[in-house]
Amino acid sequence: MKSSAGAHRRLAPGIARVCNGPGAGVTTRPAPVSVLGVLAVLALAGAVGCSDPERGTVLRLAHSLEPSHPVHAAMEHLAVQVEERSRGALRIKIYASSQLGSERETIELLQLGAIDLVKTSTSPLEGFVPGMAVFGVPYVFRDAAHYWRVLDGPLGRQLLDLGLGQRLKGLCYYDAGSRSFYTKNKPIRTPADLRGMKIRVQNSRTAIRLIEAMGGAATPIPFGELYTALDQGVVDGAENNPPSLLTSRHYEVCKFYTLDEHSRVPDMVLIGTATWERLTPQQRQWLQEAADSSSRFQRELWGHKTQETLAQLAQAGVQIIEADQRPFQAAVRDLQAAFRGTETGRWMQAILEHP
Ligand code: GCU
Repeated sequence: MKSSAGAHRRLAPGIARVCNGPGAGVTTRPAPVSVLGVLAVLALAGAVGCSDPERGTVLRLAHSLEPSHPVHAAMEHLAVQVEERSRGALRIKIYASSQLGSERETIELLQLGAIDLVKTSTSPLEGFVPGMAVFGVPYVFRDAAHYWRVLDGPLGRQLLDLGLGQRLKGLCYYDAGSRSFYTKNKPIRTPADLRGMKIRVQNSRTAIRLIEAMGGAATPIPFGELYTALDQGVVDGAENNPPSLLTSRHYEVCKFYTLDEHSRVPDMVLIGTATWERLTPQQRQWLQEAADSSSRFQRELWGHKTQETLAQLAQAGVQIIEADQRPFQAAVRDLQAAFRGTETGRWMQAILEHP
């Protein structure tokens, strides 16, 4: 294995001192620990959103991406904005690189109230909030402009609130571009090339169905374990947006990237409702305004980062394949039809009909 980026789950050693140490908004670099260990340490550290009369309230934010990722930059912006707006009374400490567990595990920790905030792809959310599956429906968004018109409009806001009954409140979306296949030993040019190939997917039934509809075999693996899985040949490929392929260093193993853009699955920042209810109206306002600001900031950053990243990948020896997307769209047409009559199907229809 050439690199360990994202390959191991780690926990920041200083986690038990969240309220005492400086460094809210600072990304902590980690040492290996299990998720049960995370729970135990967090429990010892005291309740969420821990407050200290002198240092204010510190919220813990977990996510799976590397600190070099543009989505991480948005979370740093969020932390700075919260601290500035509240003059230090409210702060955010970021745990990157799956330090507190996989996305699925951190969503569980959020529900339990053991952490305060999670930035996750909406894919694993569908295991908790079934309607979220709509984001994984292939080609449900026509293009980037349609995607943002939906997310910025009333539909997008309803979807942010969809998890309230599951103790999960969405604060904002981050652009995660479009997802495309990258493979190790042979390029994908049409869905037929996926036959017999093992493709890693997120923890999402919709993602599994998408790969199966295209003829591949889907294997759910947490993002933080994927470098090793690719390197050791557990899977033949995966799918993601360009910045994630680059910052995870999966490109060191996978040299073929096929821009079929089969889905546009946004990222979301969520707060546990227990933490939200504990915040004062003023703190909630600071947090929501900061989240909105970070979403605008991230969207702009994403625009130029994606192109820059594709150039960096090409420079690193990755063959970028501008695939004809029509055969990929044709392969999943029945899958779209299969959602009709379900809750996901109703959201899907609303998105398809959205101008
Ligand atoms: C994207 C997303 C991450 C997610 C990853 C994945 O990169 O931004 O939140 O973990 O996909 O494929 O698991």
